[in-house]
Amino acid sequence: MSSNKFPYDIRPIEESEQQILSKHFHERYKYIQIGPKNYFMISNYGNDAANIYNMPLRPDDIFVASFPRSGTTWTQELVWLLASDLDYSKAAQIPLQARYIFLEFSMFLSKELLEDVKKENVGKEEQLEILDYLAIPGSQLAAQSPSPRFLKTHLPMSLLPPNLLDSTKVVYVARDPRDVAVSFYFLNRLYKLTNYIGDFKSFWGFFVKDMVNWAPFFDHLKEAWQLRNHPNMLFLFYEELSKDLPSTVQRVANFLGKTITSEQLTTLCSHLSIENFKNNPSINQDELKTLGMLSEKESFIRKGKSGGWRDYFDEDMTREAQLWIDNNLQDTDMRFPTVQ
Ligand code: A3P
Repeated sequence: MSSNKFPYDIRPIEESEQQILSKHFHERYKYIQIGPKNYFMISNYGNDAANIYNMPLRPDDIFVASFPRSGTTWTQELVWLLASDLDYSKAAQIPLQARYIFLEFSMFLSKELLEDVKKENVGKEEQLEILDYLAIPGSQLAAQSPSPRFLKTHLPMSLLPPNLLDSTKVVYVARDPRDVAVSFYFLNRLYKLTNYIGDFKSFWGFFVKDMVNWAPFFDHLKEAWQLRNHPNMLFLFYEELSKDLPSTVQRVANFLGKTITSEQLTTLCSHLSIENFKNNPSINQDELKTLGMLSEKESFIRKGKSGGWRDYFDEDMTREAQLWIDNNLQDTDMRFPTVQ
């Protein structure tokens, strides 16, 4: 697959930046930047970048795409259930992680890291199977998966196949960057793979400097926003799901060409409530917990609030964030439902 065309250059980040990041995140990772927008990724992504960009698509593929911590999981479960005729029993049997192909997740699981985790989990061969699965490059996983395929990605539209929307439905979900940053901070502490050590203020510094995986945040969103009127693209905001789940679920159903009764809608909204999500082992990545890969102090499904960022930003950060958002919204008509 090495003859695949990939239109962007891939380069390592500055050594000085690499050193700072190695002190704050898992020391094994090296980072790269891609193309003119400097998309920031773990270096392993570079091995599969061209394969993902050129991956063969199927007409019944459904993608859920987002910047991390924007409500991806919420949207995934919603999309999967609607597209699978509300098969709750299958949803309970198969963890969400196994119902979706997470295209670039393997970048976190280099050979060395996988070995480390395996050494720490001798005797848990059955539980380790999920890791072997997650370590398979996304393009390969996609090729070997039966249809219909559900694909999750945090890659921006420009790093996905250029013909994606010709044949494939994409649900993109976006969220206020301040809530994203807080949530992403907790996620980077939760996963032993990322192992962030530092306070939120430092993390926010990395976030606005586009030194976190999948950044820059605004370019990511704007690429999808530009495509929002394409019939195969549905652009949602976390805040819309939060404010009016039933009507947002209905929009997703219409987009997928599914009809649901009002009773089914009520049951689905209840299934998708944060309380039920917190207690749903199929969603909560319990399989990674048993491998000691998640810190006990945090949880994957957290508060599920809009505007919760206010508890974590001091006055300076609030001002800086507002300026940063205002600057980045100057050349777009995209507006976050909660951002004035
Ligand atoms: P918080 O950390 O602010 O609580 P992603 O799935 O993209 O990683 O996004 C995770 C964010 O979505 C987390 O935000 C998580 O709590 C929130 N979330 C997940 N399921 C949710 C639900 N059913 N209702 C509301 N928020 C939810």
